Amino acid sequence: MPLPLLAELLADGAALLGELLAALLPGHSAKGAGARGLSRPTPPDRSMNIQELMADRRTVHDYRAGALPEGALERALQAAVCAPNHRMTEPWRFVRVGPEGRQALLEISADLKSSGGAAPMAPAALEKLKAKMLTPAELLVLSQVKVDDPEMGREDYAAIACAVQSAMLALWSEGIGSKWSTGDVTTDERTYARLGIDPAREEIVGFLWVGYAARNDVAKPRRRRPLDQILRSIP
Ligand SMILES: Cc1cc2nc3c(=O)[nH]c(=O)nc-3n(C[C@H](O)[C@H](O)[C@H](O)COP(=O)(O)O)c2cc1C
Repeated sequence: MPLPLLAELLADGAALLGELLAALLPGHSAKGAGARGLSRPTPPDRSMNIQELMADRRTVHDYRAGALPEGALERALQAAVCAPNHRMTEPWRFVRVGPEGRQALLEISADLKSSGGAAPMAPAALEKLKAKMLTPAELLVLSQVKVDDPEMGREDYAAIACAVQSAMLALWSEGIGSKWSTGDVTTDERTYARLGIDPAREEIVGFLWVGYAARNDVAKPRRRRPLDQILRSIP
């Protein structure tokens, strides 16, 4: 048997054994499930098909500190850029924001929330904001290259939304949570300046927070209309 195949079989066997132990022994968690800290128990990476992954993915709002595995962000972005894209405009741009940039964005956000210092934030609210903006492992700023044609702009935004979903699913498949956020700090002119994004050329369409969920609690059930309310068939 070729060695890579044998290695794969052994890895699968180890994962299965981990799951079996997790099922039989309280307190034992299958490889990665508890350790990854998702907002719900996570099956091993390769056991979910894409449909299960889409149903399982949830937005993670609260993060704990912890760096991503080597290359995880790049893998998510490689998945992102495979999104469908009319006219192949590749309208997405990403800025990976390091600690100094994160601190600067925190200050802009705090300034906005305190109306420029006129209504200072309560210390607890400021701490919460700090945790929200500094704890996730990564922050990617998502922007869209501007075009003159509004229809093309709409289709470009649709492509970016597809790309972000692909990135979120790729991350989730590795046990990593994420959240797409919008809001005043994402559109403030100081944010553009600090990130070096020219507002004449690109529009920021959100922030993508990436990292490990703070808790392993089970996510709230999804509220979605049943299909018979959103699907009509015509002969
Ligand atoms: C374009 C866009 C913007 C969003 N902005 C925010 C936001 O500013 N704050 C937030 O908490 N969630 C934001 N979300 C996440 C949604 O609230 C979340 O996807 C929704 O509640 C469904 O939850 P789920 O992702 O767990 O299925 C945004 C999602 C999208 C697609």
